[in-house]
Amino acid sequence: MRSFRVKWKSPANIALVKYWGKNGHQLPANASLSMTLSEAFATTEVTFSPLKNEGGPVVTFTFENNTNEIFQQRIERYLQYLKENEMPFLQHYRLDIQSQNSFPHSAGIASSAAFMSSLALCLCSVEEQLYEGIGYSFFERASYIARLGSGSAARSVYGGYVSWGRSKHVPHSSDEYASPVNKTVHPSFMHYVDTILIVSEKPKAVSSSAGHRLMNDHPFQLARYRQAALHHEELLRCLLCEDRQRFVEIVENEALQLHALMMTSHPSYILMEPATLFVIQQIRQFRSETGIPVCFTLDAGPNIHVLYAKDESVAVENFINNQIIPSIAQPVRVMYDRLGNGPEQLFFEFDK
Ligand code: DP6
Repeated sequence: MRSFRVKWKSPANIALVKYWGKNGHQLPANASLSMTLSEAFATTEVTFSPLKNEGGPVVTFTFENNTNEIFQQRIERYLQYLKENEMPFLQHYRLDIQSQNSFPHSAGIASSAAFMSSLALCLCSVEEQLYEGIGYSFFERASYIARLGSGSAARSVYGGYVSWGRSKHVPHSSDEYASPVNKTVHPSFMHYVDTILIVSEKPKAVSSSAGHRLMNDHPFQLARYRQAALHHEELLRCLLCEDRQRFVEIVENEALQLHALMMTSHPSYILMEPATLFVIQQIRQFRSETGIPVCFTLDAGPNIHVLYAKDESVAVENFINNQIIPSIAQPVRVMYDRLGNGPEQLFFEFDK
């Protein structure tokens, strides 16, 4: 049996239409649509060493050179599931996994999407090598495997704009894996900027999985899924037809809906901070004064993603640096990101 060493760099993504609520095993309750980032990424290296027996996968995991018991257990459960259901070859291997992020863990950026997609890509590279002609499209398979680790990770295996979930408006779409939709995006959306204002570095108050579960008996569940489907369809149209005005309305509405759902869940969570609302109001005022269609989105946390086209960056960045940041009492960390090209394999080595 051969040993392998593989390393992938894979980006985070920010959802424009949110995945919030699950069906079955890691299947989304609605189709989502995201923008893959460029500067926020994870790099993960996995060494696969053959075991003498079939007791694998044996796993070691370090994140930025430190062990992490909770994450280690999550990875073990994930790999065990894959061994039993998708990748039986894992029983023959010990996997030493080392990962790091290009961004601070506390930044509230969905780091599980970057990490889980990078790990899935490493697993799929070895699978592809072991079973040549397996008949899967590599990235489709990687998206499927990433999804089993974290739903939003399914979208991170592709660059640009990515859709995940069954929709009659995306050919060959599936709940099981994501697909890129860049061919139907107007060129003006292909140079989009995401400037992230980190107004709080506190750890998440609610994990994603617990958050998704809140949708199971949410009083607004049906209305949400109906609205998400409409937003998904309409946002695709906005990207195609360069409808910036409606794009802004939908993206902001999705962010606020996500938070409204959390606020009205049982238990209820308020994840915005006063600074979050302040920035939102500032962005809306700037937009109405200048006519520049800059907008915001939020993840399941208080930090604000400010989205705009690259050729608006001078005006918007002036506004961020000279108006927004000086008006916020606490320190704000700013991360400049943009639409990215997707993952990159850094190396793949094996014994012949
Ligand atoms: C609010 O993908 O982190 O970021 O599948 O349980 O790992 P799991 O959830 P996760 O949920 C992401 C939720 C979100 C919206 C989104 O990215 O679409």
